[in-house]
Amino acid sequence: MSLTDGSTRIEKQIADRALEYVLHPPTGSDPVVDFAAPGDLLAVFDEAVSIDMADVVQPAPDSALMEAVELVLKHSMHTSHPRFLNQNFAGPDPVSVVGDWLGAALNTTGATFEAAPVFTLIENALLKKLGRVAGYRVDDEPSAIPPGLFCPGGSTATLYALQLARHRHQPDVVRVGAGPDRLVLFVSDAGHYAAVKSAALLGLGMDAVMKVASDPSGAMNTEALSAAVEHAQARGLTPFAVIATAGTTVTSAFDDINEVADICEAHGLWLHVDGCYGGSALFSPSQRHRLAGVERSDSFVWNLHKMMGMTQQCSALLVRDPHQLAPCFATGADYLFQPDKAHGEYDSGDRTFQCARRVDSLKLWLAWNHHGDAGFADRIDHAVAMADHARDVIRRSGGEFVQVVDGSFSNVVFAWVPEDLRPLASLDALDDSARDRMHLLPPAIKRHMQAEGTAMLGFQPIGGCNTFRLICMSSTVQTDDIDAVYRLISTYGGNVTSL
Ligand SMILES: Cc1ncc(COP(=O)(O)O)c(C=O)c1O
Repeated sequence: MSLTDGSTRIEKQIADRALEYVLHPPTGSDPVVDFAAPGDLLAVFDEAVSIDMADVVQPAPDSALMEAVELVLKHSMHTSHPRFLNQNFAGPDPVSVVGDWLGAALNTTGATFEAAPVFTLIENALLKKLGRVAGYRVDDEPSAIPPGLFCPGGSTATLYALQLARHRHQPDVVRVGAGPDRLVLFVSDAGHYAAVKSAALLGLGMDAVMKVASDPSGAMNTEALSAAVEHAQARGLTPFAVIATAGTTVTSAFDDINEVADICEAHGLWLHVDGCYGGSALFSPSQRHRLAGVERSDSFVWNLHKMMGMTQQCSALLVRDPHQLAPCFATGADYLFQPDKAHGEYDSGDRTFQCARRVDSLKLWLAWNHHGDAGFADRIDHAVAMADHARDVIRRSGGEFVQVVDGSFSNVVFAWVPEDLRPLASLDALDDSARDRMHLLPPAIKRHMQAEGTAMLGFQPIGGCNTFRLICMSSTVQTDDIDAVYRLISTYGGNVTSL
């Protein structure tokens, strides 16, 4: 540590610069990203502090570190920029950023009450509140086991949920390992790949995930689910769980949770709801109907770092029966979870896979108290209102843009149509050569946007043809920004097709 006084210490300089960025992130005509190819980035940093760590022998001077901090800021993606419409997360809530810093400053683990007395109570209170919002029956006794855990991301929480699901079906597996039964689970073909990775890690195998057809909007076809479960049983496989998706990644579609729950109850299957993305719709009185039936789920994963703008990561795994966590994860390490220590009944460590656990609950607790339930509802309503505006622009575009997937939530999936192909009723109307042309457009247009740093939005194939996906996750996005992004697509599209 340098021996300078507090006002010039490097950590204060970095903190001041970071806070300045949080309070005044790039906006308007500022670039969304100052994009550089990997080789160029490495070369730029060589002027200050090399990214490459091979020669870190002597400490870098403070001035060089500050130059490096500026380069980090300059060349990173500005997810707070109102034209960052690329993914289902975006610029963070500033209170959550500094809440994260405060948690880091206190650098502890959420594993035990002893090491995290305040955070343990905060986490418990938040899990109970989230459980109540989801309609779970929650035990309000302060010392009652909370209905879940905060996990490092939705994919990890999915792994936890499927471990719980298997445990209910085959309680011996945690001790003696998997038996000969071929366990299978079901998720729609629009569901997130976390299911497949979790199945691989659990030793079920990726093929244990049976993909159920979704309808054109991306919601699971529940008749196909019923048929798939019965077909699997007839083949001698052992269904044990279904994942209903509440907010699919690409089209923000919601599976009908009540219909899925009926099927799960009929077949004795664990119902897991992947609300990583759309779970936050529960905060909005006008949007929460999309998750009707979530209270019937056995587990529910909810990423507050997506729609709610908490810093990554902030994921809650909620479980209907919290007593199922310990049998899956407890090992009783007697140097940490001593039975004779004070308040050990508050320790969460024997209900989790992790040992050290970040205190992700602090930032959410601060932000939620700062905004209140009403502020959280507004954030969701704003995201949907911006998506409605984007859909409106498409309707009024005279055929320049077409909405490719019907939807009324936060994602807008659309195509830009070259002049000679207008009017285009749907992508299905394209012949092969026109489809091939259309397929190349979104990546080409995006490359221009990225290179000039004017905006960021996603693209993905739908029915084999690349289409744009616009998502307004940041509360800074306004209708003008959306209009500007459509104008940019139009300009770049015109330039690309005239080449
Ligand atoms: C529907 C859905 N489920 C799960 C996940 C995985 O969450 P995480 O990125 O926190 O692992 C995502 C991420 O985008 C998602 O959209």
